[in-house]
Amino acid sequence: MQDTLNALLAKAPAELAALKSRAEFEAAKARYVGPNGEFTALMKQLGTVPKEQRPVMGKLINEAKGQLQAQLDATLQRIADAEIAAQLGPAVDPTLPSPDAGPGTYHPLTQVREEMCRIMRKAGFTVVEGPEVETEYYCFDALNTAPDHPARDAQDTFYFPEAARFGNVSKKVEGEKYLLRTHTSSVQIRTMLKGQPPIRVISPGRVYRRDTTDATHSANFHQLEGLYVDKNVTVRDLKAMLDYIFASLLGKGTTTRFRPHYFSYTEPSFEVDLSAKHLPKVNKEWIEIGGCGMVDPAVFEAVGYDPNVWSGYAFGMGLERLAMLVYGIDDIRYFYQNDVRFLKQFA
Ligand code: DAH
Repeated sequence: MQDTLNALLAKAPAELAALKSRAEFEAAKARYVGPNGEFTALMKQLGTVPKEQRPVMGKLINEAKGQLQAQLDATLQRIADAEIAAQLGPAVDPTLPSPDAGPGTYHPLTQVREEMCRIMRKAGFTVVEGPEVETEYYCFDALNTAPDHPARDAQDTFYFPEAARFGNVSKKVEGEKYLLRTHTSSVQIRTMLKGQPPIRVISPGRVYRRDTTDATHSANFHQLEGLYVDKNVTVRDLKAMLDYIFASLLGKGTTTRFRPHYFSYTEPSFEVDLSAKHLPKVNKEWIEIGGCGMVDPAVFEAVGYDPNVWSGYAFGMGLERLAMLVYGIDDIRYFYQNDVRFLKQFA
């Protein structure tokens, strides 16, 4: 019996080393330790061994079993490693220079965002960021949005299921509904709750809506939010700032126009159109570019600012729309396809 055991242990390493696939491995494992395996047969024979030899043989078999199991484990690990290596393909040396000469270019959306931040910094604004996973409170409630406002509708907003857990939301408030922010206006509330006026901030970032994607819509796009809070702020200040921004970005011939509109967080509220006839692809007289208005007293109250002391303006606009104007791009989907032929044009 001991000879059989030794023979078995002697042939196992070579046989296991020759295995190439999981199927081969499973078959070999069955041959050794399966219900009808060679090793299993040996174990069964232990009962036939004379009583006084049993402890010695039992020990030998146990040791052999340990060795065999270790070899099986190592074999399976080797096969799994080979599978992963095959999936990964030939090794890549990330320190080699790129086959495309040069350092590459920034994405056009990044370029427009950075240019806008540069323009706004010159006017004394700081750049702040807010989370993309938001709560109804920051996205709607504190912005004075009525409980039945259509923007809250699950058809427009991506809500998370009750049970969702998030890495970046440290304290989940019970009963609070979580969502992907539908606009960067939520950052207005976060900023005001953090400090005291005067405030001059802009906040670029991703926003999400349940839009079907076509040439001008995407379920995920980018906005740029602005908030200015001080004493005696007027609509003239707002208009002057927007005129400055768009003339800086698009050139001298650019003008803006306000049309009355409704936003729950501003009163009065406007939609902003701009005219930039000098741009090659702009063939309309006025193009809608964003929303704005004077911060509603209800919003100041929500963040604990006295609306009799403080006044301010806010604005928000889509970065894709701006980039499309700047570069004459006519389909929003180009931004997200990562087609190098497209991206290379913005060097
Ligand atoms: N949040 C609005 C939107 O997503 C844009 C907007 C309108 C932002 C007016 C503002 C504002 O700050 O005052 O359509």
